Formats: sequence, structure tokens, C-alpha cells
Amino acid sequence: MRRPTSFKLSCLLLAAAVMVLPASKAVAQNSQLAATPPMGWNSWNHFAGKVTEADVRAAADAMVASGMRDAGYIYVNIDDTWEGQRDAAGNIQPNSKFPDMKGLADYVHSKGLKLGIYSSPGPKTCAGYPGSYGHEQQDADTYAKWGIDYLKYDLCSYHGIMKREAPGDPQKQWKMMQAAYDKMHEALLHTHRPIVYSMCQYGLDAVWSWGPSVRGNLWRTTGDIKDNYARMSMIGFSQAGLGRYAGPGHWNDPDMLEVGNGHMTPDEYRTHMSLWAMLAAPLLAGNDLSKMDDTTKSILLNRDVIAVDQDRMGRQGNRAQATGPFEIWTRRLSDGAWAIALFNRSRYAYPMTADFQKLGLAPSLHARDLWSHRDLGVLHNSFTATVPSHGVVMLRVQP
Ligand code: GLA
Repeated sequence: MRRPTSFKLSCLLLAAAVMVLPASKAVAQNSQLAATPPMGWNSWNHFAGKVTEADVRAAADAMVASGMRDAGYIYVNIDDTWEGQRDAAGNIQPNSKFPDMKGLADYVHSKGLKLGIYSSPGPKTCAGYPGSYGHEQQDADTYAKWGIDYLKYDLCSYHGIMKREAPGDPQKQWKMMQAAYDKMHEALLHTHRPIVYSMCQYGLDAVWSWGPSVRGNLWRTTGDIKDNYARMSMIGFSQAGLGRYAGPGHWNDPDMLEVGNGHMTPDEYRTHMSLWAMLAAPLLAGNDLSKMDDTTKSILLNRDVIAVDQDRMGRQGNRAQATGPFEIWTRRLSDGAWAIALFNRSRYAYPMTADFQKLGLAPSLHARDLWSHRDLGVLHNSFTATVPSHGVVMLRVQP
């Protein structure tokens, strides 16, 4: 029997809807959560295994007192080593460093901030504390009960399980890893509490290509950052080309900030902050917020640079030109504006020129210097500046 065209069309549309509905529904739910890259603080880079409830409270206090909250830093995230034993019913308990998780969440919320926590799909976290393996829904429910708003889920010992259960079969191992991340996302959804889902598996199996399908709001793209220029720049500059995988609700995460931890120069920390902003990366400060000097504050609180990171269009920037250690990156912003960053990765200060035509930009651009906070007026054809060693000059331009 010949079916009318409209009938065939309806069937096609229905089939298409069935195919795309679960993913688009989930993406829609997630987009509302991290419409711009998450901003906040995480305990690991500075406190590592020593973090206590008092440190987290002090971080929340400092986020308010320093003006960070008002600049957009909202998440106060406890990383590894908060976990205690499970009770007889299998419910995870915090250890003695965190005597009252619900009380801590209430305190953080009372400051207009949100609380994040950490776990692993494996039986042990990277620091050897209990993970969520076999307790995924129970843990998600516990987090929701405490009032948690953000979960960093770190592969750690699950890697060993993948290898043990699928020896020599990377395809099967990757499938297991994806299933493990999907399982926790489902568990989070079932809590009916909006919880940002931060995937941490160091970029394995090109996570950016499947992170959205297990509905991660952000996923680590690399191994761990360290507080030195070599490691920070290696991670940051390796992110070129990943922009097409990121956008509102789902972000590439080149790891947390080291600004203020003491082993980079101010120019190097300005490069760190600028590069992360060009990358639309999550901005999770990793220093001791209760002891910040003015330079650290001026970097973390640079609202011009934060505005680039948080641009509502959510387009990640990219390397536009590189001549040896001299790199120019551009990022398209909303309202026809662009961010331009001139990075000098060499050991000497050097004059660098951004040629607007070569960068595909309009010949005349109104410019603002985002580190000196000076309006540069209208620039014609190009912009030249001496960029310090390991430093950056960053502009916002608009035709
Ligand atoms: C891994 C992660 C780090 C941190 C530690 C905690 O190394 O990549 O960011 O969470 O585990 O043990």
C-alpha cells in the first residue's frame, strides 16, 4: 500500500525524535547547570590530603570577603580525602576531618555559595579512600541529602577494574569506563537535585568526543597540573583544536588553577589565567584563599579576563598563529567582539604584532587592554606590544 507523503514524514520525524530525545533532553538539563564554565575553588592544589572542614569554611569566608563570590566564583569544592567508612547499611560517612557535612553545606549555602564533593567510580579514590563502586545511587542520594551541588568523579582505581575485567581489550575497557560515568550521571539525575557533573579521567579515550553522551558538564582533558610554568603551559597550549567539543553545559577542563600557589612568576600566572579564559575553561582557584597577596587577587579578580572566560556564547578560543614560542590566540565573543591573546613562551621579552587581516578580523577595531585595564581607542590594521618572557598581552576588540 502506498502511504501518503505526510505519513512517511511523520514516521521519519518520530524515528528521529526517538533517536535524539534521550540525549537532547539530558543535554538540555545539563545546559541549565553550567551555562558558562563553572567558577569556584577546589581544595586539592593547595591542601591536598590535609584539607579539613575548617579550611573549607575559611575558603568560603574568603571567597565572600575578597570579592571572589561577587566576581562569579561560586563553587566551594572538597576534593579527595573527606571520605570515612560506610555504615552497616553501606552509607558513606565523612571521616573525622569533616564531622558534619550537612552543617558545612548549610554554612556554604548561607554565604550564597555552593558545595562540591569528590568520589570515584572505583572502590578506592586516588588517595586510597573509599570510592563509589557498587554504591553509586546510595552515594548520590547521600550527596543530595547533605545538599551537595557539584561532584568531581575521578577514575582512579576503576582503571584497575577495567584492566582486570577486559585484559588487552582497550575497546571493551573504554566501554566499561563510559558505562561507569553514565551510571553515576543516572544516579545524580535520580536524586532530582541539580548537581554539576565533573568527569575526571585525564582525557582518556578522547573524552571530549563522548563526554556529552554521558552528560558530563565538564571533563578533564589532561593529567594533573602542577604549580610550574613548564607543566601549566604544556597543558594549556595543548588544548588547541578542542573547541568544537565544548559549549554551554559541557566544557573541556584543563585542570584547576595554580594561581597564587607560589611557584610561578606573576607574568606566568597571568598567562595561566588568560589562557584558561581563552579556553573557556572552568576557573577553579586552587590556592589558600585566606592568605592571598595583592598580585594573586589582581589576577583571580580580573573582571575583564573573567568576562572573556564567561562569555555567554561559550565558544572556546584557539591558536590562530604560532611562530616558534610566539603564539597568538583568538576567541570569538558575543556581540561581534573578539579576545586576542599574545603569548610569549620564550625566555626573553619580545615585541609581538597581531595583524588583524591575518587573524581574519576587521581592519579597524576598538580595543581594550585586559591586564592594564586601559582603553586603547581605535586601532588600525595591527597591534604591537612587547610581551614579557612567559607573559601575555590580552585585548578585547570590537569593530
Ligand atoms: C587525581 C586528580 C586530582 C586530584 C587527586 C586526588 O590525581 O586528577 O585532580 O583530585 O586525584 O587524589
